Amino acid sequence: MALAEILMLGRMLPIVETSLDADFTVHKVAAADVASLDPALCARVRAVAGGAHVPVNAALIDRLPALEIVANFGVGYDSVDARYCAGKGVCVTNTPDVLTEEVADTALGLLLMTAREFGAAERYLRAGRWTGGPYPLTRATLRGRKLGILGLGRIGKAIAARAEAFGLEIHYHGRSRQQGVAYTYHDSLEGLARACDTLMVVAPGGAETRGIVNARILAALGPEGIVINVGRGTVIDEAALITALQEGTILSAGLDVFEDEPRVPQALIDMDRVTLLPHVGSASRHTRDGMGRLVVDNLLSWFREGKPLTPVAETPFVKRG
Ligand code: NAP
Ligand code: 8YV
Repeated sequence: MALAEILMLGRMLPIVETSLDADFTVHKVAAADVASLDPALCARVRAVAGGAHVPVNAALIDRLPALEIVANFGVGYDSVDARYCAGKGVCVTNTPDVLTEEVADTALGLLLMTAREFGAAERYLRAGRWTGGPYPLTRATLRGRKLGILGLGRIGKAIAARAEAFGLEIHYHGRSRQQGVAYTYHDSLEGLARACDTLMVVAPGGAETRGIVNARILAALGPEGIVINVGRGTVIDEAALITALQEGTILSAGLDVFEDEPRVPQALIDMDRVTLLPHVGSASRHTRDGMGRLVVDNLLSWFREGKPLTPVAETPFVKRG
C-alpha cells in the first residue's frame, strides 16, 4: 500500500521518479497546470516534491490542507515559502552537503575562466584566429588577489579551502562570524568589498539578500574587481552589475545564476569578457543523483519514521500524531 499521495511539481530525475513511484502514489503536475489542480486531489496530498521551477508559495500551500512536508530538490529553497510552511506546521527539507564539493569546484572553475579569459581564449582558437597571432595577455591574474566570500557556509567554506590552495587571501561576510575559521571577517558587505578585489557570492536568495550586491558594493570593489556568483541571481542587482561592467567600474564577472532564469540579459551575452554558465553548479550525474536520493530519503523517513533527514532551519519538526 502506498505510504501517501505526493504532488510532484514538474519532472524530476529518473532516480527520484522511479523511487517515489515504488512507495507513493505520485501525481506529476506540469508548472502550467498547478493553478488548475483538482480540489479533490488537493485534499489528499500530504507531500510535495519539486525543484526551483514551481514556487511553493502561500497560495499553493493553502490549497493543500493535508500537506505535511515539502521536499525540495536543491540546498537553496528560496522558491519555497518556508516561514509560511512553519506557521502551518509543514516541514520543508532541502539537499545540503551532497552538492557542496561540486558547487565549490564550479566556483573555482568560473573564477579561473573569468580572470584568465579561458572561454574567450577557446572561442579565439575555434574561430581559427590563433594562426593570425597569439591570444592577448590577460589583464587579470589570480596572483595577489584578495577573495571576499559573501556567505561562508558549507559551500563558501569548500570554496575557501580551494582558494587557500591557490594562494589567495581570504575574507568573508555573513550575518555572523563563523567559528573555527581564520579568515578575516567583515561585519558589513561594503567593508568586505573595500578590502577585496574579488567577490564570490554564495549566499542564499530570498527577500533578505535581494539586490544586496548593488552599485555601491561594486564601486567599493574597484576597477580590477571580479564578481563571481554561484549563489542566487537575485542577490546581485543585475542592472547595476551590467552598468558597472559597461562603465569599467569593475573588470569582469563570472555568473552561474541569474535574476530571471533561464532568461539572461542580452547586454551580458554581448560582453565577451564575462563568463556565463547556465546554472550548472551541481549539474553532474553523480551529484544530482545524490540530491535526488536525499529528496526520496527525506520523504521515506518522514512517512516511515516520522522525522525528516535534512529539515531547513525554519521547520525543525518531527511528525505529529
Ligand atoms: P549554507 O551552509 O546555509 O550557507 C549560507 C551562508 O550564507 C551562511 O554562511 C550564512 O551565514 C550566509 N547568509 C545567509 N543569509 C545571509 C544574509 N542575509 N546576508 C549575508 N549572508 C547570509 O548554504 P550552502 O549549502 O553553502 O548553500 C549556499 C547557497 O548556494 C544556496 O542557498 C543556494 O542559493 C546556492 N547554491 C547554488 C548552486 C548552483 O548550482 N549554482 C548549487 C547549490 C547551492 P550567516 O547565517 O552567518 O549569515
Ligand atoms: C540546483 C541549486 O541546480 O541546490 C541548489 O540550491 O541551485 C542547484 O543545485 C537546483 O536546485 C535545481 O533545481
